[in-house]
Amino acid sequence: MGINARRVLITGGAGFIGSNLAVFLKESYPSIEVYAFDNLIRQGSRENLPRLKRMGIEFIQGDVRSAEDMSRSPVVDVMVLAAAEPSVQAGIINSPVPVLETNLLGTIRSLELAASFGADVLLLSTSRVYPIERVNEIPYRKDATRFVWSLDGSNCPSGWSTSGLRPDFSLEGRRSFYGASKLGAEMLLQEYAGAGRIRGLINRCGLVTGPWQMARADQGVVALWVMHHLFDKPLRYIGFGGTGKQVRDCLDVYDLCRLVARQLECRERWTAQVYHASGGTERSISLTELTELCRQLTGRQLMIGSEPDTSQVDVRILIMDSSEAQRDFDWQPERSLNETLQSLQDWMVRERPMLERTLT
Ligand SMILES: NC(=O)c1ccc[n+]([C@@H]2O[C@H](COP(=O)([O-])OP(=O)(O)OC[C@H]3O[C@@H](n4cnc5c(N)ncnc54)[C@H](O)[C@@H]3O)[C@@H](O)[C@H]2O)c1
Repeated sequence: MGINARRVLITGGAGFIGSNLAVFLKESYPSIEVYAFDNLIRQGSRENLPRLKRMGIEFIQGDVRSAEDMSRSPVVDVMVLAAAEPSVQAGIINSPVPVLETNLLGTIRSLELAASFGADVLLLSTSRVYPIERVNEIPYRKDATRFVWSLDGSNCPSGWSTSGLRPDFSLEGRRSFYGASKLGAEMLLQEYAGAGRIRGLINRCGLVTGPWQMARADQGVVALWVMHHLFDKPLRYIGFGGTGKQVRDCLDVYDLCRLVARQLECRERWTAQVYHASGGTERSISLTELTELCRQLTGRQLMIGSEPDTSQVDVRILIMDSSEAQRDFDWQPERSLNETLQSLQDWMVRERPMLERTLT
C-alpha cells in the first residue's frame, strides 16, 4: 500500500524520531520526496545529516519558530511535526520560555505552513500531557524491582485499563511546562482541523527509544543507561526514594515508524483524533530492571548512585494502552525490549567514536 503523497516534510527531521522516520519512509516508499527541517539545536542532531544525505533526503536548516525559515520548505502534501524541546525537565531550573516557544509557537508556524500548502499534519505528542498528580495518585504497591499499579474493579480511575492509561484519562491538573506545551500543541492542531484549515492526527507517544537517540541526562533514559554501561560512566536513580523502581513503557522507534506509515496510508480517516503510541505493559520496565538487562547485555556491573528526592515533574508509573491504534491501524509493536536494547548496543559500538566525541 502507498501513502498517496509526493512530498513529506518532517520538522525535527535531524532528531532521533524525525531522522529515523525520514529514513524509514524513504526506504519504504522510494518514490516520495522526504524533507528534513531542523535547527540542529539538539546535541548530536548534526550527526544525522550524512545519514539523511545518503538516503536522498533533503535537509533544510531552519527554526520552526520563524515563519521566514519555514517558508523555505517546498510545498508538501504531509507534514510530520517532530521538532520540539522534548524534555519534561525543561523550564524547571531554567526559563520555561524556550520550551514554550519551540513547542507552541513552532506548532503554530507549522500549522500555518501546512494550511497554506493544504497539507495534512501528524503531530508527535507525549504521555506527559497527563497530569502528574492524577497519575501519581493511582494506587500502587512496591514489588522487589518495580512499582506496580494495584487496582481492582473498585478503585480504577476513569480512563484506565489493565493495559494502562487510555486517551480519555483525566487532563485536570498540572503536567510540567513540557506537557503543557505539548497539550497546547494538540489543541492547536484540533482547532486548525476543526476550522477546516488542515486535516490532522495526534500520536501521544510513551517512551520511544532505539538507535540514533542522542541521550542526555534529562531525556532518552534507556539510551543513556545502555551508553553509560558500555562506556563505563556514572548513573543515578533519582526520586521516589532513589531505588530505581519507576516504570515506563518503551516503544522501539522502528515500531513507531511502522505505525506512522500505516497512518499515512489512510489519511482520509484523520479527524484530529488522539492515539496512544506506546509499548504497553509487555514492554514496560523499571530502572532497576533496566540496570540488570544492561548488565547482561554489556557484561558490565555499574554501581548506581542514589538520590531519594523526587523531581516535581516525575511520575511513579507511566504505561499507556495503545489498543485503539492497534485496532484502527492494524498495528502491533514487533520489537521486544531485549531486541531494542541489543540494537542500541550494536549502534553504540559501531558509532562509539562519534558518541564519545558528541555526547560524553
Ligand atoms: N523520544 C521520546 O521518548 C518521545 C516520547 C514522547 C514524545 N516525543 C516527541 O517526539 C518528538 C521528537 O522527539 P525526539 O525524541 O526525536 O527528540 P529530539 O530532540 O531527538 O528531536 C527533536 C529535533 O527538533 C529539533 N529542534 C528543536 N527545536 C527546534 C526549532 N525551534 N526549530 C527546528 N528544529 C528544532 C532538534 O534539533 C532535534 O533535532 C517531540 O515532539 C517529542 O515531544 C518523544
